[in-house]
Amino acid sequence: MKVNGREYRSIWLAADGLGVEIIDQTELPFRLVVARLQTLEAAMHAIRRMLVRGAPLIGATAAYGICLGLRRSASSAALENMAAALIACRPTAINLRWAVDRMLRVLLPLPEGERLAAGYREAGQICEEDVATNEAIGRHGAGLIDTIWRKKGARSPVNILTHCNAGWLATVDWGTALAPIFKAVAAGVPVHVWVDETRPRNQGASLTAWELVAAGVDHDLIVDNAGGHLMQHGRVDLCIVGTDRTTASGDVCNKIGTYLKALAAFDNGVPFYVALPGSTVDWTVSDGVAEIPIEERGEEEVLQIQGQDAEGTMRRVSIAPPATRAVNPAFDVTPARLVTGLITERGICAASRPGLLGLYPEQGQ
Ligand code: MRU
Repeated sequence: MKVNGREYRSIWLAADGLGVEIIDQTELPFRLVVARLQTLEAAMHAIRRMLVRGAPLIGATAAYGICLGLRRSASSAALENMAAALIACRPTAINLRWAVDRMLRVLLPLPEGERLAAGYREAGQICEEDVATNEAIGRHGAGLIDTIWRKKGARSPVNILTHCNAGWLATVDWGTALAPIFKAVAAGVPVHVWVDETRPRNQGASLTAWELVAAGVDHDLIVDNAGGHLMQHGRVDLCIVGTDRTTASGDVCNKIGTYLKALAAFDNGVPFYVALPGSTVDWTVSDGVAEIPIEERGEEEVLQIQGQDAEGTMRRVSIAPPATRAVNPAFDVTPARLVTGLITERGICAASRPGLLGLYPEQGQ
């Protein structure tokens, strides 16, 4: 996507064909900083500390992380160790494991001397496929937005609520939940986005809002608790969110607070859609609440807040008494019964096993 007229992706191979460059998302929305990853450890640090985040992007970063690790050792034991270390960086998003497993499947059968070049080829392929997949999600989702707009009389904008950041910064390009919005706006459908700030890390305020500004999409930032009220007053036509892992039966795990939005949408008859690539479906689990591991992050993310002061200096400030402790689950699970549909690269389906198998029949064999 474009920022100030320049085309960007969230991750790319450096000019030397070996290093990897990323947008450091911890610096947004105030500074667009490109960071360079030269080692496996740097890739792991970027995933853990959330310089890169979003399910598809951490998968792509892990794939390149393996390439960086292969530069030091291409033995099978080293590969297995790298894979395990990368997967452990963040436990919830399945795309991380999906990408690492895909790299192992391609690399382990090869002679050691061929692994490095093959690794870079495969990581590049993962990135290219991600872009094409998300663009297809955008096309399918834009059709849905267009239908809602016409139902409204094709006059006023479609008001879409989104949570966290499932835009191009969360993927290699386009995004999942935001791709339909970018496509619909490009096709001339007026869209207004309600952006949940998404405490504690504020991915909505710092990343989604930044993407929407860059793309010229009309939006307002709202506190996480405002969505239900806006829905009650008919000010939300549609919710679209992303997901870090969706079960084979359509339960959706996404950023903490998604479940509450889905409950409010259900109560108010607002359609609640989830946009995802096929690689986000974990076909091995069906009960999301019981089976998906939920990342617990540090309490400082809740007890403090970060922002830029009037002089342009980034600061962290405390917002609770020093003696107060905090608990910080990073994701929650929205049961399939609250999800109106899943927007995938292969089309839109019901959030159910038959719905998913209709689009991915190869998984039923
Ligand atoms: O903790 P984060 O910022 O990595 O969480 C990201 C999300 O929850 C996104 O909604 C999800 O990864 C879908 S991204 C296309």
